[in-house]
Amino acid sequence: MKELKIQPIKNGSVIDHIPPGKALKVLRILSLPKKDTTSIISAVMNVPSETVGKKDIVKIEDKELDPDESDKVALIAPHATVNIIRDYEVIEKHALSIPNELVNIVKCPNPSCISNSNEPISPRFKVISKRPPIKLRCYYCEREPADIEAQII
Ligand code: CTP
Ligand code: ZN
Repeated sequence: MKELKIQPIKNGSVIDHIPPGKALKVLRILSLPKKDTTSIISAVMNVPSETVGKKDIVKIEDKELDPDESDKVALIAPHATVNIIRDYEVIEKHALSIPNELVNIVKCPNPSCISNSNEPISPRFKVISKRPPIKLRCYYCEREPADIEAQII
Protein backbone atom coordinates (compact mmCIF):
# COMPACT_ATOMS: atom_id res chain seq x y z
CA MET A 1 0.00 0.00 0.00
CA LYS A 2 1.27 3.43 -0.87
CA GLU A 3 1.16 5.94 1.91
CA LEU A 4 1.56 9.65 1.40
CA LYS A 5 3.66 10.95 4.23
CA ILE A 6 4.50 14.52 5.02
CA GLN A 7 8.26 14.91 5.18
CA PRO A 8 10.07 15.30 8.47
CA ILE A 9 11.66 18.70 8.91
CA LYS A 10 15.25 19.52 9.84
CA ASN A 11 14.71 22.56 12.07
CA GLY A 12 11.60 24.36 13.17
CA SER A 13 8.22 23.70 14.73
CA VAL A 14 5.56 21.07 14.23
CA ILE A 15 2.14 21.99 15.57
CA ASP A 16 0.32 18.70 15.96
CA HIS A 17 -3.22 17.74 17.05
CA ILE A 18 -4.87 20.84 15.58
CA PRO A 19 -8.67 20.41 15.30
CA PRO A 20 -9.53 19.30 11.74
CA GLY A 21 -10.05 22.24 9.42
CA LYS A 22 -8.15 24.76 11.54
CA ALA A 23 -4.66 24.50 10.02
CA LEU A 24 -5.11 27.48 7.73
CA LYS A 25 -6.46 29.56 10.57
CA VAL A 26 -3.35 28.73 12.60
CA LEU A 27 -1.14 29.85 9.72
CA ARG A 28 -3.14 33.04 9.28
CA ILE A 29 -2.86 33.91 12.97
CA LEU A 30 0.92 33.42 12.75
CA SER A 31 1.00 35.65 9.63
CA LEU A 32 2.51 32.83 7.62
CA PRO A 33 3.84 32.50 5.02
CA LYS A 34 5.85 35.72 5.44
CA LYS A 35 6.50 37.66 2.26
CA ASP A 36 10.26 37.45 2.02
CA THR A 37 11.24 34.06 3.35
CA THR A 38 11.91 30.85 1.52
CA SER A 39 11.35 28.56 4.51
CA ILE A 40 9.10 25.63 3.80
CA ILE A 41 5.69 25.53 5.42
CA SER A 42 3.44 22.52 5.16
CA ALA A 43 -0.03 21.82 6.35
CA VAL A 44 -1.98 18.59 6.26
CA MET A 45 -5.65 18.45 6.99
CA ASN A 46 -7.98 15.71 8.09
CA VAL A 47 -5.29 13.13 8.72
CA PRO A 48 -6.45 10.15 10.76
CA SER A 49 -5.32 10.19 14.38
CA GLU A 50 -5.54 7.33 16.87
CA THR A 51 -6.55 9.61 19.69
CA VAL A 52 -8.83 12.24 18.21
CA GLY A 53 -10.23 10.73 15.01
CA LYS A 54 -9.02 13.43 12.64
CA LYS A 55 -6.54 16.23 13.00
CA ASP A 56 -4.55 18.88 11.14
CA ILE A 57 -0.78 19.33 11.36
CA VAL A 58 1.30 22.42 10.52
CA LYS A 59 5.07 22.25 9.99
CA ILE A 60 7.06 25.47 9.89
CA GLU A 61 10.72 25.20 9.00
CA ASP A 62 13.26 27.50 10.64
CA LYS A 63 10.84 28.97 13.14
CA GLU A 64 10.23 28.39 16.83
CA LEU A 65 7.04 29.86 18.25
CA ASP A 66 7.40 32.62 20.83
CA PRO A 67 5.12 32.71 23.91
CA ASP A 68 2.64 35.19 22.40
CA GLU A 69 2.35 33.10 19.25
CA SER A 70 1.77 29.99 21.36
CA ASP A 71 -1.05 31.74 23.24
CA LYS A 72 -2.68 32.74 19.96
CA VAL A 73 -2.48 29.20 18.61
CA ALA A 74 -3.87 27.87 21.91
CA LEU A 75 -7.02 29.93 21.41
CA ILE A 76 -7.62 28.16 18.09
CA ALA A 77 -6.22 24.76 19.00
CA PRO A 78 -6.37 24.32 22.79
CA HIS A 79 -5.23 20.69 22.60
CA ALA A 80 -2.40 21.16 20.14
CA THR A 81 1.13 20.00 20.81
CA VAL A 82 4.09 22.08 19.74
CA ASN A 83 7.22 20.10 18.87
CA ILE A 84 10.50 21.93 18.48
CA ILE A 85 12.74 20.18 15.97
CA ARG A 86 16.50 20.63 15.78
CA ASP A 87 18.58 18.61 13.39
CA TYR A 88 15.64 16.29 12.71
CA GLU A 89 15.15 15.45 16.40
CA VAL A 90 12.18 16.45 18.55
CA ILE A 91 14.05 18.30 21.30
CA GLU A 92 11.03 19.79 23.02
CA LYS A 93 7.37 18.89 23.11
CA HIS A 94 4.81 20.93 24.95
CA ALA A 95 1.08 20.97 25.20
CA LEU A 96 -0.35 24.41 24.59
CA SER A 97 -2.26 26.06 27.37
CA ILE A 98 -4.27 29.21 27.72
CA PRO A 99 -2.94 31.57 30.40
CA ASN A 100 -5.20 33.21 33.03
CA GLU A 101 -4.87 36.56 31.39
CA LEU A 102 -4.26 37.65 27.79
CA VAL A 103 -2.50 40.94 27.12
CA ASN A 104 -2.15 42.13 23.52
CA ILE A 105 -3.37 38.83 22.13
CA VAL A 106 -7.06 39.54 21.52
CA LYS A 107 -8.72 42.85 20.60
CA CYS A 108 -11.86 44.01 22.42
CA PRO A 109 -14.91 43.95 20.12
CA ASN A 110 -16.45 46.93 21.93
CA PRO A 111 -15.61 50.04 19.87
CA SER A 112 -16.01 52.30 22.91
CA CYS A 113 -13.69 50.21 25.09
CA ILE A 114 -10.76 52.24 26.38
CA SER A 115 -8.42 49.66 24.86
CA ASN A 116 -9.75 50.80 21.45
CA SER A 117 -9.26 54.51 22.16
CA ASN A 118 -6.22 56.63 21.51
CA GLU A 119 -4.99 55.99 25.02
CA PRO A 120 -1.91 53.78 25.15
CA ILE A 121 -3.83 50.94 26.82
CA SER A 122 -3.23 47.37 25.75
CA PRO A 123 -6.20 45.07 25.30
CA ARG A 124 -6.39 42.80 28.28
CA PHE A 125 -8.72 39.89 28.97
CA LYS A 126 -9.40 37.68 31.91
CA VAL A 127 -9.83 34.04 30.89
CA ILE A 128 -13.16 32.86 32.29
CA SER A 129 -13.18 29.41 30.69
CA LYS A 130 -10.14 27.60 29.35
CA ARG A 131 -12.14 24.69 28.02
CA PRO A 132 -14.09 24.99 24.83
CA PRO A 133 -16.14 27.04 24.47
CA ILE A 134 -13.37 29.37 25.64
CA LYS A 135 -14.68 32.48 27.36
CA LEU A 136 -12.82 35.76 27.82
CA ARG A 137 -13.87 38.95 29.57
CA CYS A 138 -12.42 42.36 28.86
CA TYR A 139 -10.56 43.72 31.86
CA TYR A 140 -11.85 47.24 31.16
CA CYS A 141 -15.40 46.99 29.81
CA GLU A 142 -16.34 43.40 30.73
CA ARG A 143 -17.34 42.59 27.15
CA GLU A 144 -17.11 38.87 26.37
CA PRO A 145 -16.16 38.43 22.71
CA ALA A 146 -18.50 36.01 20.95
CA ASP A 147 -16.08 35.17 18.14
CA ILE A 148 -12.68 35.04 19.83
CA GLU A 149 -10.84 33.74 16.77
CA ALA A 150 -11.94 36.79 14.79
CA GLN A 151 -10.48 39.12 17.44
CA ILE A 152 -6.99 37.62 17.64
CA ILE A 153 -4.44 40.34 16.96
N1 CTP B 1 8.29 15.55 13.10
C1 CTP B 1 8.74 16.18 11.95
N2 CTP B 1 10.07 16.24 11.67
C2 CTP B 1 10.98 15.69 12.49
C3 CTP B 1 10.55 15.04 13.67
C4 CTP B 1 9.17 14.98 13.94
O1 CTP B 1 7.93 16.69 11.18
N3 CTP B 1 12.26 15.77 12.16
C5 CTP B 1 6.84 15.53 13.40
C6 CTP B 1 6.23 14.15 13.43
O2 CTP B 1 5.79 13.80 12.12
C7 CTP B 1 5.03 14.36 14.35
C8 CTP B 1 5.54 15.43 15.33
O3 CTP B 1 6.66 16.05 14.70
O4 CTP B 1 3.92 14.89 13.64
C9 CTP B 1 5.95 14.87 16.66
O5 CTP B 1 6.91 13.88 16.47
P1 CTP B 1 7.02 12.63 17.45
O6 CTP B 1 7.09 13.11 18.85
O7 CTP B 1 8.13 11.77 16.95
O8 CTP B 1 5.64 11.89 17.12
P2 CTP B 1 4.58 11.27 18.10
O9 CTP B 1 5.27 10.42 19.13
O10 CTP B 1 3.53 10.61 17.26
O11 CTP B 1 3.96 12.54 18.80
P3 CTP B 1 2.76 12.61 19.88
O12 CTP B 1 3.06 11.59 20.91
O13 CTP B 1 2.87 14.03 20.40
O14 CTP B 1 1.50 12.38 19.12
ZN1 ZN C 1 -13.22 46.11 26.34
